[in-house]
Amino acid sequence: MCAEHAAGVRWTSIVGARPQFVKLAPVCRAIEAHNRQLGSLPIEHSIIHTGQHYDRELAELFFSQMDIPEPRYNLAVGSGTHGTQIARMLERIEPILATERPDWIIIYGDTNSTLAGALLAARLKLPVAHVEAGCRSGDTEPEEQNRIVSDHLSRLLLAPSERAVENLKKEGLGRENDPHARRVAMVGDVMYDALLQNRRLAEQCAGPMLERFNLTSKQYYLLTIHRAENTDEVAQFRRILDAASGLDLPVLFPAHPRTQQMVAALRASLNGNIRTVAPLGYLEMLAAEMHACKILTDSGGVQKDAFYLEVPCVTLRDKTEWPETVAVGANRIGSSTVESIRAAVAASHSQHWLTSTPYGDGTAAAKIVSELLVSARN
Ligand code: UD1
Repeated sequence: MCAEHAAGVRWTSIVGARPQFVKLAPVCRAIEAHNRQLGSLPIEHSIIHTGQHYDRELAELFFSQMDIPEPRYNLAVGSGTHGTQIARMLERIEPILATERPDWIIIYGDTNSTLAGALLAARLKLPVAHVEAGCRSGDTEPEEQNRIVSDHLSRLLLAPSERAVENLKKEGLGRENDPHARRVAMVGDVMYDALLQNRRLAEQCAGPMLERFNLTSKQYYLLTIHRAENTDEVAQFRRILDAASGLDLPVLFPAHPRTQQMVAALRASLNGNIRTVAPLGYLEMLAAEMHACKILTDSGGVQKDAFYLEVPCVTLRDKTEWPETVAVGANRIGSSTVESIRAAVAASHSQHWLTSTPYGDGTAAAKIVSELLVSARN
């Protein structure tokens, strides 16, 4: 570990995709709070935005709504095949890390930007901390590959749940005999921090949001789909839309750009029940989640939001990396047939799931800052 600089420590966060901006925001707040404490070791925090997401609705809007400081670098890697996208990231991040050699590199979640950050930090022998370490869905999708590789390359594994800690231990990470001396800390889910910090503001957006889409609170479903496993295969995508369009209430469908392309191709199969709209900003999305009667999604983040807001959720996948939400009955795996999706929607009912707190108490970001400071001293 690098020695602390006389003036303080330097940390670099690497982000690039929508859910990472949500995770980054509370960490920025916690760093600012730490720096305001009299006599604390100053943390100089800079942000590298890979530019994996670049549309205003997926990127800029999150920085402004969540008050995230301007990235020091925007690498504008844009879209491409996995190989092209990751290669551009590696090429553009490497000189920055090689020159700056921060005391900690912080990576978030499971995207290609996470993987690129982990690989480069490891190659440059710089310590990397992974926020949301240890989640496993048990499939072979790109996100699961990114999670596993990033965890194995990280020095500090910041887990959102006890189950995530167990997953890491099963893979030998953070155990007493771990040859790479990786450390595991259960800090809770930083997305819960984000939700609690923004809930009131989101509530203020609810009225205009409902009016804009001509919806009534608790009288509509919310649908999101963006994973390649659902959007890149016409038959699968059509099954989801068929299931959603047969529901008894309107379906609000904020469509990710990846999904919009498919929607355009299948427009004929969309009936009036499904209201396809552009992706929503963080606050509008929270408001839409809060006021939905039920949520159908393939997004990991939205599954957890639904749990925190006590809105029943159906996951449009065969597996989830958030099994705790299923265990408490907040989330049902809708699998991939029209019948199984409709059956899961019909069976889900609202309850007070928050009596159980598998993802901590909404103070994950402060714990992350403490863990990074403690680990830096060891
Ligand atoms: C990525 C993450 C996923 C995360 C999701 C959040 C990977 C492998 N996947 O998926 O884990 O849940 O972000 O949204 O990293 N596009 C645009 N504008 C944008 C961004 C993307 O038009 O601002 C389009 C492009 O056509 C692109 C496609 O969306 O090819 C997919 O984008 P990409 O960044 O590869 O993955 P996501 O589906 O967004």
